[in-house]
Amino acid sequence: MESHKGILSAKDFGNDFQWGISTAAAQIEGSWNEDGKGLSIWDTFSSKKGKIKNHETPQVACNYYHTYKDDISIIKNLNIPYYRFSISWPRLFPEGSGKINQKGIDFYDKVIDNCLENNITPWITLYHWDLPQMLEEKGGWMNRDTVARFCDYVALCVNEFGDRVKHMMVLNEPLVSAGAGYFLGVHAPGRRGANKFLKAVHHLALSQAEGARTIRNLKSDIEIGTTFSCSYVQPVNEYAKNSLAATRVDALMNRMFIEPLLGLGYPIKDLPFIDGIDKHFKEGDDARLTFDMDFIGIQNYTREIVKHSFLTPYIHAGLVPGHKRDVELTAMGWEIFPESIYHMLKKFSAYEGVKKIIITESGMALHDKIESGKVNDEKRISYLQSHLEQVLRAKNEGVNVKGFFVWTLLDNFEWAEGYHPRFGLVHIDFETQQRTIKSSGNWYRDFLKKEI
Ligand code: FCB
Repeated sequence: MESHKGILSAKDFGNDFQWGISTAAAQIEGSWNEDGKGLSIWDTFSSKKGKIKNHETPQVACNYYHTYKDDISIIKNLNIPYYRFSISWPRLFPEGSGKINQKGIDFYDKVIDNCLENNITPWITLYHWDLPQMLEEKGGWMNRDTVARFCDYVALCVNEFGDRVKHMMVLNEPLVSAGAGYFLGVHAPGRRGANKFLKAVHHLALSQAEGARTIRNLKSDIEIGTTFSCSYVQPVNEYAKNSLAATRVDALMNRMFIEPLLGLGYPIKDLPFIDGIDKHFKEGDDARLTFDMDFIGIQNYTREIVKHSFLTPYIHAGLVPGHKRDVELTAMGWEIFPESIYHMLKKFSAYEGVKKIIITESGMALHDKIESGKVNDEKRISYLQSHLEQVLRAKNEGVNVKGFFVWTLLDNFEWAEGYHPRFGLVHIDFETQQRTIKSSGNWYRDFLKKEI
C-alpha cells in the first residue's frame, strides 16, 4: 500500500472535530468473575468447545480491570481527547436484572473519574455484546422482556454516570448481535435460524429506541447516539440478478436498523425473507421503534462484493471473499478499500433525520510482532490515513461528520477470532501483559498534537 504520511493534519477536519479511541468491556477487562460480576454470553460461549479459535476466552484479556489507570495514562500520552468504552451489563446486574452489584458501579466510577482527571472526555457504549447469561437463559434478545430489562440497566447507568458522562451510545452494531449471534451462531450466544434472528432484530431495534428514550427522559444534557456496522456493497458485475442480490445484501447489512429508527420501517420490500418480522410486533411498535438521535455512529472496515446464489438460503446472495479477488487483505481477511467509508458517509447522511455522523470505529488487524523492542505497523498507519482522506472527502462535500474514533487502543479478545488478529495502537504481550506502543500509536499522537 502506498504511504500517505504527512498528507493530512487533524486541523483539516476543523477545531470541533472529535478525535477518539474505542474499546469494549468484554474484549479488554478480563476479571470475568471478580468482585461480583455475573457471567456474560461471551463467558459461556467461549467455554464451549470449538467456538473460539484456539479455545481462547475473555477471562483475562488485557487485565484492564486492574490496569485501567495505566491504560488511561497511555491515552493521555497519545494526546487522544475522547475515550469510548463500554459498560459491562453483567458487572452491574450479575443476574441481568434485580440485584445491583455496587462494586461494578464503583469500577466505572473510577474509570470515568480517571478520564476526567486526565482531561479525557468519557464516551460510553451501553451495550457492546455482553448480554448477561441469566437473561440469555430466558431467551436473550429473542425475549421481548429483555427490552424492559435493558431499559432498567440503561436507567441505572444514566443515574450513576450521567452526571459526568455526556455522550452515550445505546447499541454497538445490532446487526452483528442479531446476525452472528442468533442467525449464523458464530458469535455468542450461538443460536441459529431465521425466526430467532427476526425476533432478535425486532427486540434490539426496540431497545435502541427505548434505551435512548430512557436516557432522554432521565437527563436532558446527554448527547445520545447509537452505532451501526456498514459496508459498501457492490455487485460482482452488471447482470440484473447480481444487482438485485447486492440490493438485498445492502438492505440486510446497511438498512435493517437505521430505517425503523427513522420511522421508515424494516426494509422488507428489498429483503423479502424478513417479511415475517411483523409477527413479533405489538400495537404501537411502529412508533416505539423511532427515536430522534443526536448523532448516528457508523463503523466501517471493508466493502462487500456480491453475487446471486441459489445455494444460500433466505437471501439468495453470496459474498465473493477478498482472497478470491486478488486484493490487499487485513489479518481478518477483509479487503482494504478506503472509498467504502466515503460511500457509507454519503449513504447515511442522505437520510432525512440523520443530523450528525461520528465514525465510532475504524482500524486494521495485522499480525503485529515486536522486533528490537518496537512494533513497526506502517500498514496500519497507511490504512488510517487513507480512510481519513475519504472521511475528509465526504466532509468537504458537505457530509456532517464530526468525529473519528480509532478501533482500538489495545490488542484484545477479537470475539470468535480470539487473540490473534491484532487491532491495537498498543501491542500486548498476553503472557506478561506488557504494553508496547506501536508506530501507529506514535503516529496518532503526533497527528493529534496541538501546535502551540
Ligand atoms: C466491530 C466490533 C468491535 C471489533 C471490531 C473489529 O464489529 O464492534 O468490537 O471487534 O469490529
